[in-house]
Amino acid sequence: MRVIFIGDIVGSVGRETVKRLLPWLKDKYRPHIIIANGENAAGGRGINAAITRELFEWGVHGITMGNHTWDNREIFEFIDDEPRMVRPANLPPGTPGAGSAVIKAGNKELGIVNLIGRTFLPPADCPFRAADEIIDELRQKTKCILVDFHAEATSEKIAMGWHLDGRASLVVGTHTHVQTNDERILPGGTAYLTDAGMTGPRDGVLGMEKEGVLRKFKTGLPARFQVAEGKWHLHGVFVEMDESTGRATGIQTIRIDEDSWIAS
Ligand SMILES: [Fe+2]
Ligand SMILES: [Fe+2]
Repeated sequence: MRVIFIGDIVGSVGRETVKRLLPWLKDKYRPHIIIANGENAAGGRGINAAITRELFEWGVHGITMGNHTWDNREIFEFIDDEPRMVRPANLPPGTPGAGSAVIKAGNKELGIVNLIGRTFLPPADCPFRAADEIIDELRQKTKCILVDFHAEATSEKIAMGWHLDGRASLVVGTHTHVQTNDERILPGGTAYLTDAGMTGPRDGVLGMEKEGVLRKFKTGLPARFQVAEGKWHLHGVFVEMDESTGRATGIQTIRIDEDSWIAS
């Protein structure tokens, strides 16, 4: 099974980039399933119903979230009725939505799990123990499992890669919006990448307008950041999995920039 994971989609530039590039990505990689992180899809903060619908219409099969899950209050109206969207699993019991799902496309099935880190992020339950519980349960349904570990610290993400080696097909980090170049297949068969990167405005600071961010760093005064405009980039990862074992057989980062991309 071939799977594409797209890093945090940021604002309208991010959404337009996904819409523009999906046909090309499908043609080039022939993925069976496409998963994207949508925590910044609505103006950089959360996601709404219309955007969720659009992403699915364009060909995304499943959406993962992160620390911005609840920033757009509209999510409370639909997350419990949207089985293709997952929010971090290690939130308190009773939190709306689900932390894992089985995504179906054609005759393919992929388990997806969203977890959030505890280093430099608001308090959450233990992501390692949450992963143990969920993955044991998911593996009874499908051997192919994608874990989006939304975390700040590279060490916490690498540790999760080792923790799940042999139990997940892909452990990919999100949240930093900067793609790392440490993609590899761990000895137990888990494809691993510390951070997938982001999809959206290229010339801001992690997708936000650079002027506001710079002003805040230089003056220390409070500032409300806006999503940047201008040129785009798309970051993600392509993974091949053996459906009979759940082991990854290939991993390749995807990194496309407006200036280097030529529509075919
Ligand atoms: Fe993000
Ligand atoms: Fe985040």
